[in-house]
Amino acid sequence: MERIYAWLGWAVVGAVLMGAGLWIYQTWEVTQPVPFNHKKHVEFGIACDACHVGAKDSAKASVPNISTCALCHQPGKASPKTPKALEQYMQEMKPIPWKKIYEAPRHVRFSHVRHVEKGGLDCRICHGEVGKMERPLGRQPVPLRMERCMECHRKERVTTDCMACHR
Ligand code: HEC
Ligand code: HEC
Ligand code: HEC
Ligand code: HEC
Ligand code: HEC
Repeated sequence: MERIYAWLGWAVVGAVLMGAGLWIYQTWEVTQPVPFNHKKHVEFGIACDACHVGAKDSAKASVPNISTCALCHQPGKASPKTPKALEQYMQEMKPIPWKKIYEAPRHVRFSHVRHVEKGGLDCRICHGEVGKMERPLGRQPVPLRMERCMECHRKERVTTDCMACHR
């Protein structure tokens, strides 16, 4: 009997630790250096790939930095207002150290132009509703996982050969 209680005790401790681990994993977010707001910029009419140059016409997308922001935001200019956090980087012409959110491991091959231009896929399929976000990305709204690539490739009858995606 005592043995069973001891086992039960450990099982409860194990379950609690696993729950805590899972909670930390799911709520873990990075903090970006400038409180960027996708919704305001997209509503203003800026296309995704005007900022993320390459997202439609080359293999790699990119994340814009101060030279792009300076096309509209300038310290002292009334409209659009330049937020304090951004002003600092602009005055020193120091690049904003954005933290990467979507990054495939080095052994994976991926091409944006292939999926967006040829495949006709919308950004949202792989990145979620980024255009509606009012706060910077702290984590991947839609997780980058091999199973997601495979699911679509099977459905669309595209290759699932390991070497097509891995090097
Ligand atoms: C094509 C013009 C344009 C470009 C390029 C641009 N912005 Fe903006 N930005 C705006 C407009 C318009 C607003 C909203 C009007 C306002 O708040 O005065 C805005 C607002 C903001 C705000 C305030 C958001 C809020 O919640 O109030 C931040 C922060 C910001 N921009 C950061 C950036 C950063 C960082 C970049 C460069 C990566 C950038 N912007 C590039 C036009 C632009
Ligand atoms: C089929 C899935 C898919 C589609 C569709 C897609 N992406 Fe991506 N995106 C990815 C993957 C995978 C990565 C990571 C690639 C890497 O590390 O080279 C990525 C990375 C990015 C990054 C980070 C780039 C960097 O330099 O850090 C941005 C920004 C991005 N995508 C924007 C877009 C935009 C904008 C669109 C629509 C025009 C789009 N993506 C469409 C899968 C996709
Ligand atoms: C005014 C410029 C601007 C526009 C327009 C814009 N973005 Fe972004 N995007 C940024 C900036 C700055 C960041 C980095 C800060 C953040 O996470 O919000 C970013 C981050 C991202 C990332 C994560 C990058 C990474 O590190 O992996 C994705 C994915 C992305 N944007 C997709 C989109 C999509 C899809 C659209 C169109 C619906 C869009 N963006 C429109 C400026 C822009
Ligand atoms: C929603 C559907 C979808 C998702 C998700 C998707 N793909 Fe694709 N992929 C396609 C389509 C459609 C094509 C064929 C495009 C064309 O016509 O060239 C393709 C083509 C490819 C090719 C070229 C294959 C060849 O025959 O040479 C590679 C490599 C690839 N994808 C890798 C990836 C990786 C890596 C991921 C996950 C990060 C991914 N794909 C996610 C739909 C998808
Ligand atoms: C359509 C593209 C695609 C195909 C096909 C594909 N993979 Fe992947 N694979 C990925 C992506 C993207 C990742 C990185 C994301 C992740 O770890 O889930 C990955 C990650 C992996 C990893 C690392 C997993 C980890 O946890 O670090 C291994 C191992 C792997 N793949 C093996 C394979 C093998 C074996 C095959 C053939 C049966 C295969 N892959 C086919 C896209 C693909």
